[in-house]
Amino acid sequence: MEFKRTTVVTTIAVVIMLIGGAISAPKTWIVGDEYGWDTIINVEQWPEGKHFYAGDILVFNYDYRDSNVVKLLNKTGYDTCTKPEGAEEYESGNDKIPLDFGLNHFISGYPVQCQAGLKMFINATAPPN
Ligand SMILES: *[C@@H]1O[C@H](CO)[C@@H](O)[C@H](O)[C@H]1NC(C)=O
Ligand SMILES: *[C@@H]1O[C@H](CO)[C@@H](O)[C@H](O)[C@H]1NC(C)=O
Repeated sequence: MEFKRTTVVTTIAVVIMLIGGAISAPKTWIVGDEYGWDTIINVEQWPEGKHFYAGDILVFNYDYRDSNVVKLLNKTGYDTCTKPEGAEEYESGNDKIPLDFGLNHFISGYPVQCQAGLKMFINATAPPN
């Protein structure tokens, strides 16, 4: 009896640890889902209704010959679709970019695409413990 109770308690503890681990693990998001990082959808609205934590990974899928991703240091450049000095540029076509705590701004480095709406910002909260 005592052995069985211990086994049950241990099993429950392991299950709770597994669930906890699954919840706090960083999530990977495909930006634009099946459409990707593309003016074909309204990328700026894609984050709506989703909750992002710092450390979550954004995957940007696009044709590297036609586009790129610029991660701004702050909001500077976002409204004007310009790439400021020091902004990080990604151009692999399959970029995996972790979210920083707070605001993260992304634009296409191609001004015409950015002006057509290929930009977005995400406000990431602290990850759960
Ligand atoms: C915002 O980033 C730009 C460079 O992209 C930098 O020049 C500016 O100082 C930054 N502003 C703040 C408030 O950090
Ligand atoms: C980002 O989220 C924080 C709370 O997590 C909030 O205080 C802040 O106002 C938000 N910023 C914007 C620009 O929405």
